Amino acid sequence: GDTPDLVVVGAGLFGLTVAQQAAERAGARVHIIDVRDHIGGNAYSYMDEETGAEIHKYGAHLFHTSNRRVWDYVNRFTSFTGYVHRVYATHDGEVYPLPINLGTINQFFHAHYTPAEARQLIEQQAGELAGTDPANLNDKGIQLIGRPLYEAFIKNYTGKQWQTDPAELPASIIKRLPVRFTYDNRYFKDTWEGLPADGYTAWMERMIADPRITVSLGVDFFDESQPYNKKALRAAGVPIVYTGPIDRYFDYALGDLKWRTVDFKEVRYDEGDHFGCPVMNFSDADVPYTRAIEFKNFNPERRERQNPNRTVVWEEYSRFAGRDDEPYYPINTDADKALYARYAELAAAEHGVVFGGRLGTYQYYDMHQVIDTALKAYDDQVMPLLAHVA
Ligand code: FAD
Ligand code: NA
Repeated sequence: GDTPDLVVVGAGLFGLTVAQQAAERAGARVHIIDVRDHIGGNAYSYMDEETGAEIHKYGAHLFHTSNRRVWDYVNRFTSFTGYVHRVYATHDGEVYPLPINLGTINQFFHAHYTPAEARQLIEQQAGELAGTDPANLNDKGIQLIGRPLYEAFIKNYTGKQWQTDPAELPASIIKRLPVRFTYDNRYFKDTWEGLPADGYTAWMERMIADPRITVSLGVDFFDESQPYNKKALRAAGVPIVYTGPIDRYFDYALGDLKWRTVDFKEVRYDEGDHFGCPVMNFSDADVPYTRAIEFKNFNPERRERQNPNRTVVWEEYSRFAGRDDEPYYPINTDADKALYARYAELAAAEHGVVFGGRLGTYQYYDMHQVIDTALKAYDDQVMPLLAHVA
């Protein structure tokens, strides 16, 4: 058929946002390809028939933003539930609220400290290593919140995230450890939060419900046997938005950017509710996973449609990613940042190709940030490439 005005590589939120804008604002015919068999990128979810849970296939996704433009934009395609994110942690046989707050502190010390007393206690405990240069993550954690709370809630959890003893981890991994001296355990501080009322996938399908936008799934941009491949499209001069890994685009010519990934282990229980909350962290070393997600509990408004006798839980195991793993969190050492800067120079010289999203720019972005950067990238970089479209 006809050559599209724009090819978008990756049907994640970056690619879908740019495609939606290009069709609506420039009248462009956009073709989206994705190597996976579904749209939505890492925000994709599906309904679990047995339990009625909406499973977030690539890990728990909570939408939150304080950005008015993004909030107005996403509300064009979905409404949001009243879900408010809260997290709990199991430590030494007890369940505590997170992030560390006055409730956590008073439960941990079996006390009834006032905010001022708790603040004074933490300062005193953090004073153990005051004024020293932290040699590793352990020292840094102790310096930030004192040894007792650090060792109970941060040390082993972080060790499991990195599969490395915190004494061997660089202090730079943790910049700050927030402690709240109130009982507020609302996880996000943003103006708006919630979950898409009909699920993530329905939201994202509506973004591209435009006849000018077409999608091919199961298609790898680097597979030269299919029509929308890098070589053919570059030769034809078709504008491209690329949201895959930036090092892969350049055939890893400068080396591999490093990522962490997460493996999920699914467990099903013969009960309606296993944890009583959607996210349970496990702070101790004896439980091998970092946290467990009970998806039903993200959508309490759907209780009537959920199975009262069965529930599904995903346990999360974190590890370093190889080339064939799903890249989730950029490791972002100084060496990675320097390598990315060199790839970004190559990308800037690649005329007619816009690199975007978390893989294309080697950045951890939340969904609202990816949508914000996509709206800006459309205005600044993609729209000029579509100037010829009638
Ligand atoms: P992606 O969603 O990764 O989309 C990129 C797409 O490109 C993928 O579908 C991929 O298959 C495709 N692709 C790659 N290479 C090729 C190729 N060669 N050919 C064709 N297609 C290709 N954000 C929040 O706001 N709240 C949260 O609670 C939250 N939790 C998260 C939890 C986890 C475990 C992770 C990993 C992320 C989380 N995020 C969260 C972030 C959120 O997932 C991202 O902001 C968003 O999905 C990024 O969109 P994207 O389009 O940049 O990338
Ligand atoms: Na470019």
